[in-house]
Amino acid sequence: MSISSVYHQPTHQAPNIHQNQALEQDGGYSDCDGGYPAEQAAAPEPIVFNALSGPGDGPEGYHHNGPYPNVDQFISTDGGRTTLRNSFFSRYFSHATTTWGYNIIQTIGNHFGRFSVQRLGSGVNSSAFVMQEEGTQRKHVLRTFSVRNLRHEHHQKAFQLSRDHVGGEWTSGTFNHPNLASNTHLVVWDSADNSFRVMDQNQVQHLIANRHTMQPGRQLYAVATIAEYVEGSQDLDRYLSENPQRSEEEIRDILQGTLQGVAEMNRHQTIHRDLKAANIIRLPTGETQLIDFGSVGLQNQDEDLPFFGDRCVHPIDSFYKISGIEPHTNKKTDTYSLFLVTYQAITGRKFFGANSNNPQEIKLQHRALIEKERATNNFQTILDEDPLLKNVSQPLKNLMAQLGTASEKRRLTAEEALTHPFFAPREIEQLQVA
Ligand SMILES: Nc1ncnc2c1ncn2[C@@H]1O[C@H](COP(=O)(O)OP(=O)(O)OP(=O)(O)O)[C@@H](O)[C@H]1O
Ligand SMILES: [Mg+2]
Repeated sequence: MSISSVYHQPTHQAPNIHQNQALEQDGGYSDCDGGYPAEQAAAPEPIVFNALSGPGDGPEGYHHNGPYPNVDQFISTDGGRTTLRNSFFSRYFSHATTTWGYNIIQTIGNHFGRFSVQRLGSGVNSSAFVMQEEGTQRKHVLRTFSVRNLRHEHHQKAFQLSRDHVGGEWTSGTFNHPNLASNTHLVVWDSADNSFRVMDQNQVQHLIANRHTMQPGRQLYAVATIAEYVEGSQDLDRYLSENPQRSEEEIRDILQGTLQGVAEMNRHQTIHRDLKAANIIRLPTGETQLIDFGSVGLQNQDEDLPFFGDRCVHPIDSFYKISGIEPHTNKKTDTYSLFLVTYQAITGRKFFGANSNNPQEIKLQHRALIEKERATNNFQTILDEDPLLKNVSQPLKNLMAQLGTASEKRRLTAEEALTHPFFAPREIEQLQVA
């Protein structure tokens, strides 16, 4: 049975991911106002590593104490190597004479053998490469993080593991689910002895479980992550702009797989907090996988967490104090983000249009929207008025309303959303096949 209606993306409004990346330059793991404080946003001062500091001072105290590692045996001297080395210093250092980058390359080489890299893409917080083990067909996604992230008090949380804190990049080594492109390895810097090492998922899980036994003050930072690479996969933002037409069936499959990934994270008391089309990978089979776990928050018994991650994909309850409840994130933060993704998949446009990368503008639009929703007592009425959604079936529009509603109470969690009638036809089809 077909429930298709075909959508046409208005080509003049096709998202330009490069432009978005440029606009997002100082976004990323932003606080309420988005981006770095003004003094950080200005051209950063070159860093001179403090040679007098000792282990335990964090990346700030990392010292260039040689010997300078020779990485010729692990990676050839072509452009890929320079790009990789520089990615560890991106937007921070005017000179890159320290051993930091080459120590990481050497650490990866010691674990995986000789390898080559090719630039895959770059996000706000990382550079992504396809890393191929030389002499084999094995390919990985290598994401590297600039020392800049690790030195920023707020941003470094994503990468840090200490006895009291598990950064999002660390949780990425704990998932095992077809809709989660979790990291198979983390490359880690240890403040206790100023060393680098590659850790596999078992080691990561073990360390997280036993973090309370870590020495006070000891910090480990993820400096790079390694995941499987599936040839032909691309992020959904790119896929949607390159493939402007899709059916509701395809939207249903994308949304269902993505919700299953979110529901799995939620079962582990984690929330993604940075769900957007650029953070969802579409495999050549059409299946989807979540990536980019840097903003993941670990909940204790479903508690609300402070806001963290890309504010532009967060609901009103992450921006404003509502009914006495401070701005926060929780499982429903992720389902709200999926409303935005669904809207983009259907219309080819971002819900907040030209303001979609501006947290301050979005905050104002949220205020206007909540007034409108309160007046009608129904978010679906607002969606019904949107001409870009006029061909959307009632079940899909109803689901979108329950994901995008400003009422946190009414908003569905991923697990609840998966039981919505919009997904029912698939069950019927499967029953028929059986
Ligand atoms: N497994 C993958 N397969 C295909 N492309 C990938 C994969 N992982 C990353 N990419 C590409 O690299 C980009 C950046 O990766 P990622 O989102 O992990 O980095 P980031 O810096 O944390 O992102 P953000 O801009 O959200 O902060 C992705 O949007 C995607 O285009
Ligand atoms: Mg990303």
